[in-house]
Amino acid sequence: MRHLMSPLDFSVEELEQLMNLANDIERNPKKYAHACDGKILATLFYEPSTRTRLSFESAMIRLGGKCLGFASADNSSAAKGESVSDTIRIVSCYADICAMRHPKEGAPLVASLVSGIPVINAGDGGHQHPTQTLTDLLTIHSMKGRLNNLTIGLCGDLKFGRTVHSLISALVRYEGIRFVLISPDELRVPDYIRNDVLKANHVEFEEVTKLEDALPNLDLLYMTRVQKERFFNEEDYVRMKDFYILDKSKMDLAKPDMLVLHPLPRVNEISVEVDNDPRAAYFKQAQYGVYARMALILTLLGIEVQ
Ligand code: CP
Repeated sequence: MRHLMSPLDFSVEELEQLMNLANDIERNPKKYAHACDGKILATLFYEPSTRTRLSFESAMIRLGGKCLGFASADNSSAAKGESVSDTIRIVSCYADICAMRHPKEGAPLVASLVSGIPVINAGDGGHQHPTQTLTDLLTIHSMKGRLNNLTIGLCGDLKFGRTVHSLISALVRYEGIRFVLISPDELRVPDYIRNDVLKANHVEFEEVTKLEDALPNLDLLYMTRVQKERFFNEEDYVRMKDFYILDKSKMDLAKPDMLVLHPLPRVNEISVEVDNDPRAAYFKQAQYGVYARMALILTLLGIEVQ
């Protein structure tokens, strides 16, 4: 039995297979419409979500399966003090595979140690968000045609933004990747990402504060929101929240084929006037999230469709 805790749980070759499968699902949805007949996905979300939970459920339903679960800890026996380990033991009796989001870093890993079914980390605190990374890689691969030789700007809350941590960890395995890390001083990437991931893999990167200076050189700009829920006080959040706003005038500084990605939800960091720019790929990215999760469910359940 296989779980997904980090994007590194898949080799580069396995990721390639997963993306090929996702592309085939996009092209031939009918072929996969009954692949998961009789299977059940549990979505155990201890933290709010729109895209991740609903795209997982959409993915399972599009594969012919069914879904059950809870959308907040308050609506589960966690509110009565039940542990994650006990919960997953029980859910293993009710479902065939599970996606779990939890505010505590490592909670899905703890669950996976006693689970009778595959557990997918759907976001754990400020740590990792591997299925967002599968979505991001699929989007870049499909829209740029490659995952190598790219200059990638990551902008915003690089400290608490788990999507950024997972994406950097996954992309350092490809040739010719160069990162420009754009953040205020207080929201720079954690030391373990800088030292154990970037420096340890000899990946070229620079850390800057001004988005305008970085924009002309980027092949891809990955915007993130400031993670309000991870701040210890409101005052710091309010000071940081509008540090970056990507608008039409800033887009004029970028290459004509630079893609703008964002895991969403957005708050103010991308002005709505950018939405109609052909380089704005964040809504298409959310759509790729369904194909990526369909491919992941099939892979973890060991289901092959001929
Ligand atoms: N991208 C993402 O994780 O969105 P949700 O928080 O809505 O799931």
